[in-house]
Amino acid sequence: MDANEWDHRYDTAAYVWHTEPNQFLPALIDDLAPGRALDLACGEGRNAVWLARRGWSVTAVDFSEVGIEKGRRLAAESDVDVEWVVADITTWTGRSETYDLVIIFYVQLPADERAAMLGTAATALAPGGRFVMVAHDLSNLDDGIGGPQDPTVLPTPELIRVDLMSGGPADLVIDRAELISRAVETETDDGTKQAIDCLVVAHRG
Ligand SMILES: C[S@@+](CC[C@H](N)C(=O)[O-])C[C@H]1O[C@@H](n2cnc3c(N)ncnc32)[C@H](O)[C@@H]1O
Repeated sequence: MDANEWDHRYDTAAYVWHTEPNQFLPALIDDLAPGRALDLACGEGRNAVWLARRGWSVTAVDFSEVGIEKGRRLAAESDVDVEWVVADITTWTGRSETYDLVIIFYVQLPADERAAMLGTAATALAPGGRFVMVAHDLSNLDDGIGGPQDPTVLPTPELIRVDLMSGGPADLVIDRAELISRAVETETDDGTKQAIDCLVVAHRG
């Protein structure tokens, strides 16, 4: 989907992704002291605002102006400041060696664009900084539920690891590269089913 399509999707009074952080985020960063964070493809800002409320100094980037505007509103309602940037994360370069935390949640891009985004993400990490990415995994197509049905935008932990190692700094260390599951309520008799996501956590040495 391009920026106009995302603008259209976000053009609702309600938040499409709700206002609470992604269910996996708190446990993935709970051990970190607040510092500078970068949220790539922040959508309507739920994760960025949650981090800011915990004391992080957050830069949040998305190419949807409507999504960013909703993020601004959420930040104002939460009485926190976030640096909002409307930009395409496959070409935006931002600041290098700056962030103690870089997060990417559910950004499903073709291989060349994903590699560009991951190169930027890894380069943006300050020494010791943590990288966290969660996405719909390729195996979700056959074994999970929901998410994009186009295999060309579905990564695996290994594909993300390779992109990070080839586009990032030499001292990048992969801590986790694995599949995780998420319960999804269906509206059929099937009840709850498991969606399959990939998770990659890394840090700069
Ligand atoms: C599924 S939403 C996830 C939003 C957010 N990360 C969250 O978890 O709430 C995917 C987001 O990626 C953004 N996006 C997709 N491609 C992008 C690109 N090339 N540059 C910037 N943002 C992009 C969309 O605008 C959308 O907000």
